[in-house]
Amino acid sequence: MSCRIAVFGTGYLGATHAACMAELGHEVLGVDVDTSKLAKLGSGEVPFYEPGLEEILKRNIENGRLRFTASYEEAADFADNHFIGVGTPQKRGEYAADLTCVDAVVDTLAPLLDRPSVIFGKSTVPVGTAERIGRRVRQLVPNGVEVDVAWNPEFLREGYAVRDTLHPDRLVLGVDRNRPGRAEEVAREVYARLLSEDIPFLVTDLATAELVKTAANAFLATKISFINAMAEVCEMAGADVSVLADAIGYDARIGRRFLNAGIGFGGGCLPKDIRAFMARAGEIGADEALTFLREVDNINMRRRTRMVELAREAVGGTLLGTSVAVLGAAFKPDSDDVRDSPALSIAGQIQLQGASVNVFDPKAMENSRAVFPTLNYATSAIEACANADLVLVLTEWNEFLVLDPQVLRKAVRRPSIIDGRNCLDSQVWRDAGWAFRALGRV
Ligand code: UGA
Repeated sequence: MSCRIAVFGTGYLGATHAACMAELGHEVLGVDVDTSKLAKLGSGEVPFYEPGLEEILKRNIENGRLRFTASYEEAADFADNHFIGVGTPQKRGEYAADLTCVDAVVDTLAPLLDRPSVIFGKSTVPVGTAERIGRRVRQLVPNGVEVDVAWNPEFLREGYAVRDTLHPDRLVLGVDRNRPGRAEEVAREVYARLLSEDIPFLVTDLATAELVKTAANAFLATKISFINAMAEVCEMAGADVSVLADAIGYDARIGRRFLNAGIGFGGGCLPKDIRAFMARAGEIGADEALTFLREVDNINMRRRTRMVELAREAVGGTLLGTSVAVLGAAFKPDSDDVRDSPALSIAGQIQLQGASVNVFDPKAMENSRAVFPTLNYATSAIEACANADLVLVLTEWNEFLVLDPQVLRKAVRRPSIIDGRNCLDSQVWRDAGWAFRALGRV
């Protein structure tokens, strides 16, 4: 059965959700306040890099199931189900999440609703937000109109957003236990195709659903910082963190995934989510429970500093006047996202210490330039490495993994490379005459 859906926010989360809901056969309206983004999406162009999304977007615009608008009136008129997918960034100068955009959607939409509807929150929010929004909605909707508020967290990864939306590991729906309303019934209609594939569907209370999301990201961040702490120990002990990760990863209880040591996690989610989680825990009187996340954050930030130190050592003690090639600026491969990117932050610190920094990234050049206009941007990996005293691999894009050390050697001034992601075969590079260093390995 086809549902009429509005999706508020057309960033990574909202645009993907809108296109994928249309792909599932629903009629979808994407809503945003940014008209330039809407114009791009409306003409079938994805304003960011996400493999596979453009195809789905175009197909569903052409078949008429997907449209975009800036008009909340049009959305309220068209849809019965409303998904909130706007951003919840870190507040300036504070750990807490900034809920301005979520609140703005609710405050604008609720008074316009004139028939029974369900609002599903997808944005990552501090626990307690859904309940508060439920109260707000009940104050704002016209008298006698039944509007249910439910929370349906999203677990998609950038780079795999389409696959994660159409084939998620699980679906989680938080409903208000005091007034469950129609949320579960509607969610079962919206996700009917996924449920027919036996994807686990967990119906919880609102607070648990909100916490599932933050707990999942906190766990992933902890796993990465755990292995990066092991990398620090390995560096002092003369051990190899990659082999260590392989060996402990064979234990199914531990698992090898998310045990890649390197310059640590970044992006628009993990860093801000663990901080918002700590802030919220403090507010609800559970701050002690999450003090370990402060250490998770510290370990993560120390890896960036360590990378800069290694770079300084590799060029003989001072970066002043040296030329450094930085391969990778995105926070991870298959993404053009540079939000809180460890790679870009390291590039910036190295430049501040007096080096001339030449950056190349296959997809994130434009976004990097907007954040760090003073770095030099090359048009290829080889060009970035021209006359370099040092090469840093900071994002493990496939095209960097297959670089030929012999060819690159001819471009640089000194064949010295540091692998910030433990993604290169050290022996191959050493055999080709390179001085090779990596984080957590000798
Ligand atoms: C993350 C979660 O993985 C998703 O499940 C979640 O839905 C999403 O945040 C979100 O909250 O929206 P994403 O930010 O796309 O997804 O990126 P990840 O694949 O989790 O990578 C995060 C960072 O950790 C990257 O900088 C990556 O390079 C780093 N990382 C990852 C490591 O340093 N080591 C690893 O072993 C894995």
